[in-house]
Amino acid sequence: MAHWTLDDIPWERFEPQKLDPELLRIVKAASLVEQNGADYARYLCGVFADDAGFQEAVRGWGNEEIQHGLALGRYAHLADPSFDHADACARFTAGYRVDLEATASVRGSRAGELVARCIVETGTSSYYTALAEATDEPVLKAICQRIAADELRHYKLFLTHLRRYLAREGLGMWGRLKIALARIRESEDDELAFAYHAANDPRGVYDRTRAIRAYARRAYAVYRRHHVERGIAMVLKAAGLTPNGRVNRVATGLAWWGMRKRAARLAREAA
Ligand SMILES: [Fe+2]
Ligand SMILES: [Fe+2]
Repeated sequence: MAHWTLDDIPWERFEPQKLDPELLRIVKAASLVEQNGADYARYLCGVFADDAGFQEAVRGWGNEEIQHGLALGRYAHLADPSFDHADACARFTAGYRVDLEATASVRGSRAGELVARCIVETGTSSYYTALAEATDEPVLKAICQRIAADELRHYKLFLTHLRRYLAREGLGMWGRLKIALARIRESEDDELAFAYHAANDPRGVYDRTRAIRAYARRAYAVYRRHHVERGIAMVLKAAGLTPNGRVNRVATGLAWWGMRKRAARLAREAA
């Protein structure tokens, strides 16, 4: 796979006055979630135990996710020298762990697992694209652009393997859609909330509701309608539906309305 290294990032171009401190808080949280790629790669190797080709692809994928974590962690330390990425990662994994012993997917089938992976990559691809566009700080922009390109490639990787497994397991459109929606809802579960807490409030007590609101308020603020439209196209494609037709227009309208409403409520609660 064509890839970049931490040496390709123009660290010397850092302009601290252009960095929004609110964005730095979600960047710190993202650096921990990305680092979890190592555990997810192990989980996936367990679920696809007899598929050596997929396992090899997944190990390469996991290494790229780890590198995303390292790049964001180094950036967070550059912007806030008191942030220790390794310490924060240790706090995160002490409280949130992927099931490393699993031999079957929590999604009920391998095709289902791959649908869920497509949704995660849709989310990260949209998020880093939105972050890159939301910031004027040149180094953060450069990092997020690189990561966004990787996430799109990851989506395509899992989509390719999904199509292979669909031919064997025959998971229908409704089944795929159900898993996709369930995985989207899980974005409000503990992983992001706890990462936000572990990255930003090392000495505080974890309050899940407070943490997810604090995270979501800052994350929702970076999205624009075109990110949602593109994300929905990717979700529809993974479910086997037409990506850019009428369903997309209706779903984008609803999702964008819901997101703006939620963002406004979160901003009001924080005021
Ligand atoms: Fe990533
Ligand atoms: Fe990814």
